[in-house]
Order: sequence, then C-alpha cells, then structure tokens
Amino acid sequence: DTLEIPEYGIHVNVNQSTDNIINEIRKNMMVEKSEFGLVGLGVMGTSLALNIAGKGTSLAVYNRQVLGKEEDVALKFQNENSSLKIKGFDDVKAFVSGIQKPRKILLMVNAGKTVDLVIDSLLPYLDKGDILIDGGNSHYKNTKKRFEYLKNKGIEFVGIGVSGGEEGALKGPSIMPSGSKTAYEQVSTILEGISANDPQGNKCCTYIGPEGSGHFVKMIHNGIEYGEMQLLAEIYHLLRFYGGKRPDEIASIFEEWKSSDLNSYLLEISIDILRKKEGSEFLIDKILDQASQKGTGGWSTNAALELGKPLNTIAESVMARYISAMKDTRVQASKLYTTNNVKQFSIDLEKLKNAYSTSRIINHAIGFDTISEASNQYHWNLNLSEIARIWTNGCIIRSSLMEECALLFKDFDKHLLLNPIVAQQINPRISNYSQVVAEALTSGCPLPVMASGLNYLLSFTSAQSSANMIQAQRDYFGAHTYKRTDRPFEESFHTNWNEKLV
Ligand code: 6PG
Repeated sequence: DTLEIPEYGIHVNVNQSTDNIINEIRKNMMVEKSEFGLVGLGVMGTSLALNIAGKGTSLAVYNRQVLGKEEDVALKFQNENSSLKIKGFDDVKAFVSGIQKPRKILLMVNAGKTVDLVIDSLLPYLDKGDILIDGGNSHYKNTKKRFEYLKNKGIEFVGIGVSGGEEGALKGPSIMPSGSKTAYEQVSTILEGISANDPQGNKCCTYIGPEGSGHFVKMIHNGIEYGEMQLLAEIYHLLRFYGGKRPDEIASIFEEWKSSDLNSYLLEISIDILRKKEGSEFLIDKILDQASQKGTGGWSTNAALELGKPLNTIAESVMARYISAMKDTRVQASKLYTTNNVKQFSIDLEKLKNAYSTSRIINHAIGFDTISEASNQYHWNLNLSEIARIWTNGCIIRSSLMEECALLFKDFDKHLLLNPIVAQQINPRISNYSQVVAEALTSGCPLPVMASGLNYLLSFTSAQSSANMIQAQRDYFGAHTYKRTDRPFEESFHTNWNEKLV
C-alpha cells in the first residue's frame, strides 16, 4: 500500500487519487534535509529523539527492520509524532542522504559489537567531515579505537556518556562528550540544547576531554551509582530486618534525610519504592533479592585495577550484586550457619545518618580519585569540578553532595578526603560510623559497602599501615626486597630471614 522512493526518504500511501500521490511526492521532495540524524529507537534513543525534535531540530531517524519484532519502527515513530520535524527511515542509504552535510548522526544502539556493525553499515554513504556520535554506554577503550578507525576514513567521532535514564533523556540528561573537540563544537548547540540545567542555569553538558574520556567518566558515574544504590539497599535491609521497621516507616526516615544535605535523586526514588503497595502489601517485599548488572560497575573496577587505584566501595558494590545473584547457594548456606538467626536491635537513627553521609562522601571521593588518576595517566587534563557540576542535574547521581563536590573541586582538585573542609565534616561522625558498622556486623547484618567505606577511611588516614609486614613476607619467600624507614627510598634491602632458624 506504500510507494517507497528510498533515495529521497519518501513513503507515500498509494490508496489515494493520482493527483494526491503526485502532490505528496512533490511535498516530500521539497522537504529540506534534516539537521540531525539518530540511529536506534530503543528506550533511550526514542526519548532523545523526542527531546532533540522537541527543541525544533529537524531529525532523521533510522531503526533496523527485524521481522516480527522491529517492523517499521522509524516510520511509525514519524507518524506518531507528526507535529515534530521527524522523518523515519528503514533504509540506511536514504537515511544518510536525508541529512544535511556535514552529517551529524547520533548512534543510540547497544554497546559492544552492534556499534561497530552500525558504523560499518553507515560508512559507505558518509562523506569526509561527517560526524558520528556514540551515545551508548560504550567501553572507553572501544571509543578510542573507533575514534582512530574513523579518523583514518575522514569521519569525525564523538563519544558521549548520557545519564538520566528514560526520563532524563526525554526531559534533559547529563551529557559527557569526548573525542574530537572540533567535531564537538559542531554538535554542541544541539547536545547542550537538550541537556539538563544545573542549579545555576548552566548546561549539564560540557566537553570532557580527548579519546574515550567521556565514556570513562560515564563509567565511573555508574560506579558511584552502584555504590550509592548499595548503601541505600544496605540501610533499608538493616532497618527492615534488624530494626524491625516496615517499608513505609523506612520511607519516612529517608524523607527526613531528604530535607537535609543528604538529598539525592536515588534517595527520592527509594522513598517512592518503599511506599509502593500492591493491594495491602508492599511491593518491595515481593521483589526477588537478586541484582542484575550490565557491566559498567565491573568495568570501573577493572579500570581502577589497571590504573593501580583502590576502588573499595565501588568494587564492593559489584561484588554485593554478584553475591546477591547466588540465591540458591545463599539459601543452602543459610541453613548451615547460625548467621541467619536475625538479632534485632535498637538502631540509633542519628548515628545511622552520620554513617550514611560519611560513607557517601567516601564513595564519591573514591570515584573522583579514579577519574583524576586516569586523567594523569592518559594525559586527558580533566576538570573534576566541571564533571561534578554536570552531574548536579539530569543524571542518576545528582544530589546535594554532588553540588558540594562541584564547589569543593573548584578550589581543591586533589583527593576529596584531603580537603580540610571535608575532614572537618567527617571527623565528628567517625565514631558514629564505626559504631553503626560494628553493631550491624555483630548482629549478623551484612553491610559490604558501608563497611568497605569505613575500612577505606581508616586505611587512608593511617600514617602507619600494615604493609611493612607484607613487604617482609614478600622478601622472605621471594627475595622481592623492601625499603627501610631509616634509609633513603632509593635503596632496596634483602634479608636472609630464616638464618636464625638454620
Ligand atoms: C544512567 C544509568 C544507565 C543505566 C545503567 C544501569 O546513568 O542513566 O547509569 O546508564 O541505568 O547502565 O546499569 P546496570 O544495569 O549495570 O545497573
């Protein structure tokens, strides 16, 4: 029933008079080429497309055809949004030729192999100077490879981290672009136009740095997100099963925290979650306690290992998800051990609040320290204050604490915990933090991330660590040598440790 002229991106309904068909073809041929292109109408792609077109940008959208699953997705999207300047294509050639040169095309497809397949399907129709933008959660090393691959072909490449989920993408996400600066400058008006505003009214989108730095920063954003989520999950778990509180009672406690400097998007959604009922029962009680993950937390952990940086709370939150996934094994083990005999105790909410606020600062400090190390090792010259600023709105980890981080990093871009202002905040809370962790662990309640944050703090602030013993052990069994506190650092020493035993 449809006459298609793919080269012009024309699809005309033939169930009408010849005059009407001719008129429609004329009208279509006179239509200007779109200013911007978008590939992939999944959840995030659809929201971003509506956001871009909603700002008045004419948009060409392409979605693959998958029989029985994804049929005429782009055309249907065009028809459903006829008030916007959207043209839908299911033919790559027509899609590309329907975009003004130099073409600017945003790829919103699954991270991994799909990005390469889509790039290769577009390449034959692209011209030198065209710009491809990858908006998925791609690995930063792949972004670097793609940047170099496309550079050789005269195509510009910008990798952008996009945070905010479906709603953020639609109403204003936080955007972390990197790669070619000149290419970014050509798309900055559109990207900044669709991003969220920070509390001062500036855009939550700024050029991050070269190569895959934008995707690196997005990856650590997700790492911090894992830590933040796990901290809230641990506090919920502690209050629910060891403090004997109902979900709505926990929601009220969180509500009180929300009106303090603990306010965050993740705290807000947790309140809604805890209050959600199905009939007379709380929905949270019916959700299977096995966490999924798409991998960015694990990538952050690998990246920190490669950089040689501790990532305690973030790595621990990845491990917490893995342990949660071992449901059958956990159930089996719970019958073997006495740890499962829940001991309820009276939880001091003020102490818990102090423990929570301190562990959040530590989790943020760890994330930013990893970004800082990557910036040094990869010569990215990243601006921590700007990164924190574009995370103050639109993204999943937006919070009052993030606003404070943006300010703190302005004057002091070293490790957050070395900032005397932060030390002043944390010092009066340390004993509360230790008590909460100790009491919870003694009562059998696991607090992997909260305890990990405390251990990080205690280790980070120890002038004397236990590592002299590690060095001695290494030297004992492997002659790996050690340094001495009473001799210059340049000198190395080896001892024949078991001499006396012989
Ligand atoms: C965001 C989110 C987004 C996504 C995560 C979820 O910033 O908008 O982080 O990127 O929801 O990828 O990750 P997991 O599935 O690994 O929890």
